[in-house]
Amino acid sequence: MAGNRTLTIIKPDAFGAGKAGKIIAHLEAGGFRVVAARVMHLSTAQAEEFYGVHRERPFFRSLVTFMTSGKCMPMILEKADAVAELRRAIGSTDPAEAAEGTVRKLYAESKERNAIHASDSDENATRESRFFFAEAGTL
Ligand code: CMP
Repeated sequence: MAGNRTLTIIKPDAFGAGKAGKIIAHLEAGGFRVVAARVMHLSTAQAEEFYGVHRERPFFRSLVTFMTSGKCMPMILEKADAVAELRRAIGSTDPAEAAEGTVRKLYAESKERNAIHASDSDENATRESRFFFAEAGTL
């Protein structure tokens, strides 16, 4: 059975533009509950580790530069079937392709500066939650 928690990050584009409150309200209206949250400025090493799976991609350096360009807001969210539900709620990676009413359609600037991250599997939700919240197992 799919898990009920996932990891999201309000990225520096959206956080820096003061959109965090609206995005959280949008997600709460969609049935998500915030289980943990923090505001932080990722180091280059942290961004490289978090996005390590993309290390060989042509956009990797640009992605790391963007993710370290300002503060971001990692959160653990709870809802039944959380991973699939959050990916549906945020929309496609490229906001030009995102469905109406999704977070990226409403708040993202581009395929890279796309406002929000969401874990893509239960396994990664657990790994990514531990990355930002050492106490994740006890929440
Ligand atoms: P995210 O869901 O956080 O996962 C990887 C991130 O890499 C993605 O959101 C985008 O911010 C970025 N990304 C993915 N594909 C591209 C691309 N083709 N060009 C630039 N950035 C990308």
